[in-house]
Amino acid sequence: MTLAAAIRSLPDGFTFGTATSSYQIEGNSFGGCGQSHWDDFCRQDGRVANGENGAVACAHHHHWASDLNLVADAGFDAYRFSFSWPRLLPETHQGINPDGIDFYDRLIDGMLARNLRPFATLHHWDLPSRLANNGGWQKRDTANYFADYTDLVMRHFGDRLAAVVPINEPWCVAWLSHYWGHHAPGLTSLAATAKAMHHVQLAHGLSVAVMREHGHKQVGAVLNKEFPQPIDDSPSAVAKAELFDGIYNRWFEDSIFKGRYPEDVLALFDGQMPGNFEADMELIAAPLDWVGVNYYTRSLIKPDAREPHIGFECVRGDLPKTDMGWEIYPEGLAYFLKRLAADYCPNLPIYVTENGMANKDMMVDGAVNDVERIEFLTAHLEVVVGLVAEGLPIQGYFVWSLLDNFEWSYGYDKRFGIVHVDYETQKRTPKASWHAFQQSLKPE
Ligand code: FCB
Repeated sequence: MTLAAAIRSLPDGFTFGTATSSYQIEGNSFGGCGQSHWDDFCRQDGRVANGENGAVACAHHHHWASDLNLVADAGFDAYRFSFSWPRLLPETHQGINPDGIDFYDRLIDGMLARNLRPFATLHHWDLPSRLANNGGWQKRDTANYFADYTDLVMRHFGDRLAAVVPINEPWCVAWLSHYWGHHAPGLTSLAATAKAMHHVQLAHGLSVAVMREHGHKQVGAVLNKEFPQPIDDSPSAVAKAELFDGIYNRWFEDSIFKGRYPEDVLALFDGQMPGNFEADMELIAAPLDWVGVNYYTRSLIKPDAREPHIGFECVRGDLPKTDMGWEIYPEGLAYFLKRLAADYCPNLPIYVTENGMANKDMMVDGAVNDVERIEFLTAHLEVVVGLVAEGLPIQGYFVWSLLDNFEWSYGYDKRFGIVHVDYETQKRTPKASWHAFQQSLKPE
């Protein structure tokens, strides 16, 4: 199937969009943005490739209008972006940055003027440094401050947002950042992780409640999913893959859709969960209007007796890989979409809110022919086509990402965009994948 055929097979009204996030593109040296713990993390030796940071990124703070033109000109009808908490509240919990308000006013009005539906995330990882320095997600206070920040966003922008979610990929906020230490704040502590795993979910629940107070009717959650493949048939590999699934996946959907945490992961956190966390579960499980899945790859789970807490490591297998070293495994997307619909939220609208690949793109004679990306996106869209035909309520698909951008600890090394960015000149060059979408979504 070609990309065009996949797109044509989806029903009228199916949403196609691209996704970005604030720290990765805006350039936080512009417009009075405050410091986030990503700025602090980038300053630490060895944390980010080449010591890079998001100070300039794609200078989207300046180029937002032409960037939105790229979304609209390709024929997409939605744009997923995130608000930067430190841009809106740079210094204190109440001190609003007028430039930040103006920026998002222009951006959202710019989407509406181009018939792009704004899909907003309130937190895509740029936690204000003042909160991080005070314990960050280990502290309940951070969840309360997040509720106040949600109120600010909803007051100023809520009625113009087609869809809202509190937090992008809570697993990354909690586990990846506090246990594996790959993202800010770079901790490797099980005790810190247990607190963060709950407080990020509490923040979701508190934020959803505020969104409801403002009467929002398209409130969702965006969860990242990675398929856990036992490295072999041994009982220990199978058991560890199950634990990985609990940590990475079930922790989030069990709490949001069933109001409980999985027993296997609670046993891992034994004695380290925040006191009386059970009292928050009803709030965390408040009904949603939709759920988003971010999907990239699978992990092979290999038992490792030297690992002190979880007893496994994640390795990569033999399938073809993207430039991240991530195996290309569209079957995993099918697995999670089916499991969500069958076991967690029958009939709830589902969106694929991120899917895409880093590729060693080459600019040749002013063009980037990223055929690998077109194949990757087509293979994953084919999964969606098949499941929609089976009756799953999948209503949209967002490509990660519109632009090459700051890929967290990989800095600017990894290119995920359907539009190439020259970081010296900030010139944008639509890649072949962008043109393929345009030909499919906006045929002459
Ligand atoms: C996701 C993140 C996004 C980007 C992609 C590659 O986990 O949400 O910011 O880094 O991975």
